[in-house]
Amino acid sequence: MKLVIFGANGGTGRHATDQALAAGHQVAAVTRHPEDFPIAHPDLDVVQADVYDKEQVYKAVDATDAVVSALGVPFSRDPITIYSVGIANIIEAMHRHGIRRIVAVSSSALDPRPHAEGGFMINRVMQPMITRTIGKTTYADMAAMERSLAGSNLDWTVLRPSGLFDTDDVSEYRLQEDHADGVFTSRADLAACLVAQAGDERWVGRRVAVTTSDGAPTIWQMIRREAFGSGNA
Ligand SMILES: NC(=O)c1ccc[n+]([C@@H]2O[C@H](COP(=O)([O-])OP(=O)(O)OC[C@H]3O[C@@H](n4cnc5c(N)ncnc54)[C@H](OP(=O)(O)O)[C@@H]3O)[C@@H](O)[C@H]2O)c1
Repeated sequence: MKLVIFGANGGTGRHATDQALAAGHQVAAVTRHPEDFPIAHPDLDVVQADVYDKEQVYKAVDATDAVVSALGVPFSRDPITIYSVGIANIIEAMHRHGIRRIVAVSSSALDPRPHAEGGFMINRVMQPMITRTIGKTTYADMAAMERSLAGSNLDWTVLRPSGLFDTDDVSEYRLQEDHADGVFTSRADLAACLVAQAGDERWVGRRVAVTTSDGAPTIWQMIRREAFGSGNA
């Protein structure tokens, strides 16, 4: 299978690129900064494109079987548009090329219901605070992205991870429609799910929460990261 990966140079995107190549796929890794891309492989093309540039996106989405998006930017109180504009340009390019399958990353924060494994701190303090303040513009734009996919007439799947953390290996991650019981997702698992879903029709037209239990941080480690780190959605 040939995959085009947007956000390939990010934490999740690098895992997805590595994993897709290891699985024998051909990959076009899309980044604004090809010179910084750390992976080299005979089946890899590193493609320079900014998702705001329609023609660059059109050229990137060429002769592929599926498109994967792990695009992201840090939280900001200013309006965020990368998810909605990026996906609109990708959808248009896919229509023009006649490509149907897309798997895109959003966030479990788009479903405001409490997480069964969240407890008071996550469900009653952190999630409401983040979604009403620094995360507000990000989640509004992710919601617009999800609506565009739902109206696109493509074979789309939205993956909704929870708090991202890093591990080297893929674990037995969980998939649940719309809403996550868990509150953490490893980037390696999210990447594995992106690559697996690109070649799997079972979750077409659905929003799927992806969560990880193995090696997840504690809620207090997460709070420290949110308070002192520069995490995004
Ligand atoms: N952090 C969390 O806890 C959390 C929770 C739920 C969901 N999420 C979502 O999960 C996804 C993956 O997160 P991550 O931390 O692995 O990603 P990340 O490291 O932030 O990487 C995102 C990538 O998007 C690319 N990008 C940004 N603007 C672009 C543009 N205009 N054109 C082309 N590419 C652009 C960047 O690549 P270049 O700079 O190389 O172009 C960057 O490497 C994001 O959508 C994030 O919002 C995160």
